[in-house]
Amino acid sequence: MKKGELLYEGKAKQVYLTDDPNVIIMHYKDDATASNGEKHALFEHKGELNQRITKLIYDYLIEQGIPTHYIKTISDTDQLCKKVKIFPLEVICRNIIAGSMAKRLGIIEGTVAPNTIFEISYKNDALGDPLINDHHAVALGLATYDELRAIYELTAKINLKLQKLFQMIGVKLVDFKVEFGKTADGEIVLADEISPDCCRLWDAKTNDHLDKDRFRRDLGDVMGAYVEIYNRLSEALKK
Ligand code: TMP
Repeated sequence: MKKGELLYEGKAKQVYLTDDPNVIIMHYKDDATASNGEKHALFEHKGELNQRITKLIYDYLIEQGIPTHYIKTISDTDQLCKKVKIFPLEVICRNIIAGSMAKRLGIIEGTVAPNTIFEISYKNDALGDPLINDHHAVALGLATYDELRAIYELTAKINLKLQKLFQMIGVKLVDFKVEFGKTADGEIVLADEISPDCCRLWDAKTNDHLDKDRFRRDLGDVMGAYVEIYNRLSEALKK
C-alpha cells in the first residue's frame, strides 16, 4: 500500500491517503498536548506505544463483535484503516467521576457513578471542543437522532467490553473518549485511537494514574505509565 498525500494532521496523529480510495494510513506521532493545545511536549516512543495499545484493544474489540475502521498494523507507528467520514463529535463515557465533570459539577474525583454517563463535545478547535447535547448536534448537522442513538448504543457496548478487559489487568476504566465514522457503505464504526491519551486508567489497587493525566497534571513518568498499560494488556491478550 503506497502512502499518499497528507489528508489531515491532528495533535497526535496524521492521516494519509493511499492508492486505495477506501483506505487511509493513520500515523501515530510522539506529540502530547493538553488544555486545547496550550501545553505541548514530545515523548519518545509515545506514537509507537499508542499504536501498539490501540492495536491490542481493537483486535480484542473486533473479536467481541464491535465494528471498527481498523484493518491492520503496517509499522510500529502506522495502521491501515478504512476511510470513513468522521462525525465531528467526541463521545465521552464515564464510569467514575473525574476530570472536567468532577470540576464542573463540584463532585469529588473518584466518586463511582450510579449510572454510565455519556457526553458529546463538538470537535471544533476554534471553539475549544464545547460540550453540547443531542439537540445541538442535530441542529448543527453533525449527526441525526438515529445516528446518535446508534453511537450511544455502540459506546455502551464498547464500555462493557473495555471495563472487562481493563478489570483483567487490574485497572479501573474511569472514563474514555471515542470517535465514530461512517464507511462508504454507510456503516457506523468505531474510529481513532483507544490509548492512555484518551482514557483515564487507574491502577485497581493503588489508584495510580496510568494515563495522560500524568502529563496534564505534571505527575511525571508519563511513558512509564503507557509502558505499564502496554505490558499488562499484551500479557493478558497473549494468544
Ligand atoms: P474530561 O474529564 O477532561 O472531559 O475527559 C474525559 C475523558 O475523555 C478522559 O479520559 C480524557 C478524554 N478526552 C480526550 O481524549 N480528548 C479530549 O479532547 C477531552 C476533552 C477528553
